[in-house]
This record gives sequence, C-alpha cells and structure tokens, in this order.
Amino acid sequence: MSNMIAGFSKLSKPEKIEWLLNTYFLDIEASRALVKQYWNTDEKLQKLHDEFIENTITNYYLPLGVAPNFLINNSLYAVPMAIEESSVVAAASKAAKFWLERGGFKTEVISTEKIGQVHFTFNGSYNKLQAFFDIVKPILIEDTSDITKNMERRGGGILDIELRDKTEQLKNYFQLHATFETLDAMGANFINSCLEQFASTLKREASNYPVFNEEEKNIDIIMSILSNYVPNCLVKAEVSCKVEDLKSKDISDPLLFATKFKQAVNIAEIEPYRAVTHNKGIMNGIDAVVLATGNDFRAVEAGVHAYASRNGTYSSLTHCTIDDGIFKFWIEIPLALGTVGGLTSLHPLVKFSLEMLQNPTAKKLMQIVAVAGLAQNFAAVKSLTTTGIQQGHMKMHLMNILNQFEATDYEKSKLIEYFKSNVVTHSAVVEAIKNLRN
Ligand code: MEV
Repeated sequence: MSNMIAGFSKLSKPEKIEWLLNTYFLDIEASRALVKQYWNTDEKLQKLHDEFIENTITNYYLPLGVAPNFLINNSLYAVPMAIEESSVVAAASKAAKFWLERGGFKTEVISTEKIGQVHFTFNGSYNKLQAFFDIVKPILIEDTSDITKNMERRGGGILDIELRDKTEQLKNYFQLHATFETLDAMGANFINSCLEQFASTLKREASNYPVFNEEEKNIDIIMSILSNYVPNCLVKAEVSCKVEDLKSKDISDPLLFATKFKQAVNIAEIEPYRAVTHNKGIMNGIDAVVLATGNDFRAVEAGVHAYASRNGTYSSLTHCTIDDGIFKFWIEIPLALGTVGGLTSLHPLVKFSLEMLQNPTAKKLMQIVAVAGLAQNFAAVKSLTTTGIQQGHMKMHLMNILNQFEATDYEKSKLIEYFKSNVVTHSAVVEAIKNLRN
C-alpha cells in the first residue's frame, strides 16, 4: 500500500502531477512534458476546464468533426460530432448526402416527459399510505414552489406525483413516482431538487399524521433521484423513398438492396447479439452529437438501452418496411437532452456546436440527435449488406497507421494513392511505408 495517498484532492495541481509522476511513471521528464503539452496556453480557458471536475491534471482531446448536408424537415444542418472512431463522421456525411437527394429526414417529437422517484420504506398498509398521500400531495407540490416557480413561468414544472406500491417485489418498498416537464433543460438538477424536497416533506408530514401509529410515522427515505429511463421522452426520425430511387453509385439493384437491408434490420429486431452491435452503431452517431452539445451521453446510453429491452428482449432501435414499392426506415428513441444549463453555457466548444445547429431548443436537438443515429445506422447496415465494413474502415484506419509511423505529408499522399487500389491491412501498410522509405 505504499502508493496510498491521503489528502490528494487538497494538493495543488503541480503537486498532484509530481506525486503521480514520481509514483507511477518511469520516464518522469517525458510524462511531465506530455501532461503540460495538453494544457491550454490561455490560462483562463485552462482554469475553466480544470474546474469542470476534481483532480484535473490535463486535458484529454477528442476530435470535433462535422457532418454537413443533413436535411431535417426541410432545413439544412451541419452536425457537430465529437468522437474518436475513424469512419463515423465520414459515414454520417455519406448518409446525409444520400438522403438529401431523396427528400431528407422527417422527424417528430412524440413526448417530453422526464421522471424522478423518491424511494422509501413504510411499515404499514398500502391503503393507509394512499389515504395519507392523497392529503399530502398538494403539500408536496406547494413545498417545492420556490424551486419550480421559474420553470412554471416558462411553461414547465411538475406534471404529476403518484404513489406506487412495490411491496410485492420488495418488502415495505414504496415510491413517489413523479413526472416533470423541464423544457430546454435536461432537468437533472431541477428534478433532483424537487425530489429531495418531496422526501423531506413526506417524512415531516408522516411524522405528524395522527392516523399513523408510531412505526408508520417513521417513513424511511432510501433515496431521491431522477430516472435516466425516459420512455415518455420520445423522438422519431424517418427516411423514405420509392425503392427504385435507392439506385445510386453503389446500389445497382435497389430492390435487392432494400430487401437485404430490411432483412438485416429484422435480424436485429429478433436477435439480441446482433441488436447490440446494430444499436452500438446507432450510438456512434448519437453519442457524438450528444457529447459535442455538452449533454450527458452516459444518461442517454442507459436510457436508450433500457428502452431497447422494454418488451423483455433486447431489440433493434430502428425498423424498416417495404410496402407498395416504398422503402421506409425509422428510429424511435428516448432522449433527455438540454440546450440550456449544465455545460451548454460553460464549454466554449459546446456553445460553438449549439450555434452551428442554430441554437436549437431541446426538442430540436432531440430530432437532430435521432437523425444522427438513424443516419449512422443506415450507413452501417448499407455497408454491411453490400461491401462489408472493412473496406471503408481500413481506409480510415490507414491514416491512424500512417500517424503511428509518423508519416510525412508526402508519404501520406503517396500511400493514400497507393491504397486506393490495394487492400489495406496493418501489415500491408507497414510494408508499404518501409518500401517507400527505402
Ligand atoms: C462499429 O463501430 C459499428 C458497426 O459495428 C455497427 C453495425 O454493425 O451495425 C459497424
């Protein structure tokens, strides 16, 4: 346990770095230089980033790319994407262009309800608790009025609070299940503040409720927290065209393409092993935009995958039909996003990304993000059912390998040209670099 340290968080940033370097690194000079190389020279900007989290030592870059030409409900967008995986932005751009020429994406926000719960135990009957809850419900709402007044002025707030009996699954376990409209905010802070107030009001009122016996008066609050499962905060995005209009440079037989594409989606609908990878491809697009716009991609991931299993089996988030010669492909997903609050007004590149999207409302952003997921899935399934993905992937991977070997611009251009007509494999690239350098 010699590497144990007490009070690490109290050290200054240089002290933290020195402790780390001296404890875990072999080449201390080189590691120190690396950590500092990633600091921003603008001290104010660096401080801003330092203060996003605790114990910051440096910055961890991800590329911010752009996929242009997204036609969504007849408006054109250039979509910012923060992602490290080569080929994701290229695939999104290709899919955007493909559908731009076929009427673009149509989207619709189905619902915007968020959820939060107070989990508590009560040692008594449900009927008695329900009678108490009916009396206390208006007080719960009244006690949060300081928290909710601004949100209410803008048209949001608490939608409802229900008492839920969960005692069949867990002894004495009940919930306040509350629903919220948080407008352009993701709403986590708002919801959690309301819930914590509900919890203390519930406890206070129970302890003063004359009908309860001593044990019943002692409601035990286990926790109060929003849910990242938001099945009623749903958005739909769709593309469609005549099957024959799918014909393009790399789709010579549109009916064969459409049929195989639909079969691939049907497989993801019934086969969880495939569904997970299918949905992972969707999340390539979704997470990249969620991250670029300063939203919480872990929350989105958790909620989306729970939704993908809502019928008891993990399944595809996208669906496809071919009816009367029309190819239709769509996604329906829950997305709790914000365009105000959180990182949105703090991180300069988040502000930049939101401005690129013409400062969308949360509802608009839900639609753009859903489109990014659908486009990504279209590109992936199109490649998988035609050429396979390795051809495209390895082309993008070529650049990574070239960078690994610190290829010069001249070497890069020569080798990119060479691999236009040769198969990219790691060993083939290494061989080609060697040959060129000889
Ligand atoms: C890779 O990041 C994503 C894909 O595997 C998605 C899919 O298989 O549909 C290509």
